[in-house]
Amino acid sequence: MSVSNPPYRKVLVDRTAEEATATAATLFKTIVCETVGQRGTCRLALAGGTTPHALYQTLAAGGISGEIPWKNVEVFFGDERDVPQDNVESNYCMVQRTLLDHVPVEPTMIHPMRGDSDDLQAAAAEYEQTIRRLVPAGADGLPRFDLILLGMGGDGHTASLFLGSDALHENHKLVTSHFVPVLGRQRMTFTYPLINAARNILLLVTGDDKARAVLGILGDSPEAKAALPAAAILPADGFLYVVLDGGAARLTGLAYA
Ligand code: 6PG
Repeated sequence: MSVSNPPYRKVLVDRTAEEATATAATLFKTIVCETVGQRGTCRLALAGGTTPHALYQTLAAGGISGEIPWKNVEVFFGDERDVPQDNVESNYCMVQRTLLDHVPVEPTMIHPMRGDSDDLQAAAAEYEQTIRRLVPAGADGLPRFDLILLGMGGDGHTASLFLGSDALHENHKLVTSHFVPVLGRQRMTFTYPLINAARNILLLVTGDDKARAVLGILGDSPEAKAALPAAAILPADGFLYVVLDGGAARLTGLAYA
């Protein structure tokens, strides 16, 4: 494992996807335990996708699950697809099956997005109000999640912030719903101001097919960054942990142990 250290960002590289997932699980546990110790409740937002899926299975498994104070965890979702909650495409459905069905989070502390609403903008606004009510704000008035978990697609999207979508330019709403041209579908998503207000962001990326996007977000090329929504994930006053496997890191020159 190697660490590079601009003040706000740590990049951790493991050889395999399994090892990177285990590293992310340990970070998740550490952040939850420290937050609960300091503030009593850890408010976190979870991601969809296959990479987070593996992390949830790890978190739900025997050893590490017993070390996490789940009853003090409040769960939100960073993005959602335009489907009912019991649809296999739903992020809530995936998180429920892989994690929430197996750990003792209080049901009242789980807040799914209403991706199947007839009025997705209204549902996004309602979700923003829920967050404003339940997640304490920092000095700038923005709610500060203790942890936001993110994945990244090979095209550089994260949460449901896709290139070509209006959500990338949203500076006022904290949660928005928008058409994603590349998908031809509506998505609901946290916006940059909300994500970047978090205390901790954990971006887990594995696989060779993500290597070019990883190089772009970690490198110095402004042109590359402009084409990669995940490159704008930079906490204003928090930590960004980027956890990679060897495949995702292969173009960066970062070594793993
Ligand atoms: C989603 C996401 C999305 C995801 C990335 C990575 O709903 O799909 O929240 O941002 O995390 O696309 O997904 P994969 O791990 O499947 O590549």
